[in-house]
Amino acid sequence: MNNKEIVAQAIFEAVKEELTIEEVGRLLENPKSAEHGDVAFPTFALAKIYRKAPQQIAADLAKKINGDRFEKIDVVGPYLNFFMNKEVISSLVLKEIAKEGSTFGDSVIGNKGNVTIDMSSPNIAKPISMGHLRSTVIGNSISLILDKVGFQPVKINHLGDWGTQFGKLIVAYQKWGSEEKVKAEPITELLRLYVQFHEVAESEPALEDEARAWFKKLEENDEEAVELWKWFRSESLKEFDKIYQMLEVSFDSYNGEAFYNDKMAEVVTMLEEKHLLKEDQGAEIVDLSAYELNPALIKKSDGATLYITRDLAAAIYRKRTYNFVKSLYVVGNEQSIHFKQLKAVLKEMGFDWSDEMTHVPFGLITQGGKKLSTRKGKIILLEEVLNEAIESALNQIVEKNPDLPNKEEVARQVGVGAVVFHDLKNDRLNNFDFELEEVVRFEGETGPYVQYTHARAMTILDKAGFTPNPEAVYALNDGDSWEIIKLLQNYPEVVMQAANQYEPSVIAKHSLKVAQAFNKYYAHTKILVEDEQKDARLALVSAVTTILKEDLRLLGVHAPNKM
Ligand code: ARG
Repeated sequence: MNNKEIVAQAIFEAVKEELTIEEVGRLLENPKSAEHGDVAFPTFALAKIYRKAPQQIAADLAKKINGDRFEKIDVVGPYLNFFMNKEVISSLVLKEIAKEGSTFGDSVIGNKGNVTIDMSSPNIAKPISMGHLRSTVIGNSISLILDKVGFQPVKINHLGDWGTQFGKLIVAYQKWGSEEKVKAEPITELLRLYVQFHEVAESEPALEDEARAWFKKLEENDEEAVELWKWFRSESLKEFDKIYQMLEVSFDSYNGEAFYNDKMAEVVTMLEEKHLLKEDQGAEIVDLSAYELNPALIKKSDGATLYITRDLAAAIYRKRTYNFVKSLYVVGNEQSIHFKQLKAVLKEMGFDWSDEMTHVPFGLITQGGKKLSTRKGKIILLEEVLNEAIESALNQIVEKNPDLPNKEEVARQVGVGAVVFHDLKNDRLNNFDFELEEVVRFEGETGPYVQYTHARAMTILDKAGFTPNPEAVYALNDGDSWEIIKLLQNYPEVVMQAANQYEPSVIAKHSLKVAQAFNKYYAHTKILVEDEQKDARLALVSAVTTILKEDLRLLGVHAPNKM
């Protein structure tokens, strides 16, 4: 129970006849300054009921409230200011965390409902971008958070594996490509071929016709075309998988755009039957002016389907296959119109479940304030960024803790964790700057800082040989520990907030606050000194490790015990 709930319960006992506990709860406030206590209750709302001045009500109420959980209750005009009894509350919180461990903050609110999460979704034969990294780590964290509150996440990698570019690639590969080169460095080589195609096509427009012809063959299931397409796809996936392995992210489905090729005809038929398709200069569109949106282009004049046509088929397929209670799309902010159109078309088709579809957008990664796309004239390969982060983490570990036995493993957890944490610590819609040196620092608001704090706390427990006992009393009463207790106590609400807003940054920020509060405590307190509060202090340290580790887990980041 958090402090507000405890106070609500106590007031409720005194005003049972007039108010429900929920009504009391809604009236409670968080005082701005510590001198006004931990929770405040304004009595104005009771004035009408009791036909008395709020000041009088406050004074009367204070006498009626029984409060072994409160240090004192101040009456300040119409306000009741509750000061929690630190000893009672700290013991309550520490015992609860000792008992529940990493399940503290779990909830069953999701009722095991399926939530499809469209995430990562890079394009075949192209490098996976920093935007796809964001989608991957944000989607992964959302899946972990939703799982904690009782939903069943279904992670779908909606690969960009279809489109006219595959005709171009086939032509370029047949003219200038080699099997060995593609096998050695699939993405680099396929990208090179794609660029070469465009360069040559400028002076030889006939190449474009060839490419169209090959794409047509591909659509018609021509054996040779399909063979090559499959190969490009699997070679690209192998390369993407290296990154997914480094991030330790897995998917429940890799059904990409191509998967919906044979499922679009049905969508077009449904649209026709509902008289939603209009002809516009030979193309087929759905008018969305009622939504103040541009029309959705479903079929081009040459009969080709589009990105949105495949997304319509995918949305319907996901509803049929998973019967989702929510369907999320973790995709960059720049596609927000697309997802508005997608929802609107489904709504027009009469699918009320479209209300449960949510675009979860995010901002750009920049470097020096500019959109990050090229460096030294070439595309930043994510793998390179991750490897550099690991190397930098290793250097710092060697310096700080030369005797650490599993340095390489810890460096991987810290380096990758740093990149992931950096991505998740800001509100996802914000653009943010990426400077590697900043990201992997052991101080400041970084992943390594939180990991390091966790490891430091683990070392203390290790030294003391301490494991908390859920039956003991762990009473603490100093101000520094109280700051930590409040952060720990609020954990279930923090998790719920992150889940409701699809916002991993809520978790990352919580971990930073806990780490900062703990380091302050650690600097001011001799934890291992022998006195009657030693076990309570150790129980606090133990609770901090439990929550920091759980925070990091929800972000998809490891918490090494030593570093
Ligand atoms: N492949 C697309 C891109 O890189 C993202 C796909 C997002 N998911 C979707 N269902 N449209 O831009």
